[in-house]
Amino acid sequence: MNNKIELIDKLKKSLEFYQELGFEYLPLKRADISNVISAGAVSDYNPATISSNQQVAEQPVDYSSNKEITLEDLKNEIGDCHRCKLSKGRKNIVFGEGKADADIMFIGEGPGRDEDIQGRPFVGDAGKLLTNLILKLGLRRQDVYIANIVKCRPPSNRNPEEDEISTCAPFVERQIAIIKPKVIVCLGKIAAQTLLKTNVPISKLRGNFFSYKNIPVMPTFHPAYLLRNPKDKWLTWEDMQKVLDKLK
Ligand code: URA
Repeated sequence: MNNKIELIDKLKKSLEFYQELGFEYLPLKRADISNVISAGAVSDYNPATISSNQQVAEQPVDYSSNKEITLEDLKNEIGDCHRCKLSKGRKNIVFGEGKADADIMFIGEGPGRDEDIQGRPFVGDAGKLLTNLILKLGLRRQDVYIANIVKCRPPSNRNPEEDEISTCAPFVERQIAIIKPKVIVCLGKIAAQTLLKTNVPISKLRGNFFSYKNIPVMPTFHPAYLLRNPKDKWLTWEDMQKVLDKLK
């Protein structure tokens, strides 16, 4: 009897957990449900194995040349940047934040209004969703590193243009070289296509591991897309389970 009550309680907690994440139905196969219940935590959810392991833009990182350079040095080098036209409308440069030697590095597209005001990445509505996702993975924002492809807000939140991306992307590449994450998560099309040098749509890229300079890259949907399409949240959840598996 006690067992039954405990079981129902655990099931209730698990369902509330998914509901909180925004799921409209359970992204689990029947066989997985017992795992979730017995673990009482979704981090034990065992996703399907990685379907492909494609290699894109392979070039080993020459860490030796920038061993002495820190994120602070790089920030100073960027300075009061006017290298592209995005500098005209910005309030703050959003350099990135988090653990300097994080295992997981999230890369978004570029700052929005809230990020521009605060000078911090992913602090608006999409940022709240990302922060919630990180917490549900059993991590905190300070355990990971969060950066963007472009560091200044594009006017009216339009997509960054080619010249802006090509001017700014070398800085996120140098952040990667300094942090040396074990896995990179590209949030959305701009981050994934820029890092992997491809035009393949994010819907095709997501859920598969690629490689950037020998670092595994998991493209997934951008949190802003997930706010508009909450039914796809479970796909990003599955992508993140693959990321956690990669770190085991
Ligand atoms: N969207 C992004 O791509 N980056 C941010 O920092 C915020 C919103």
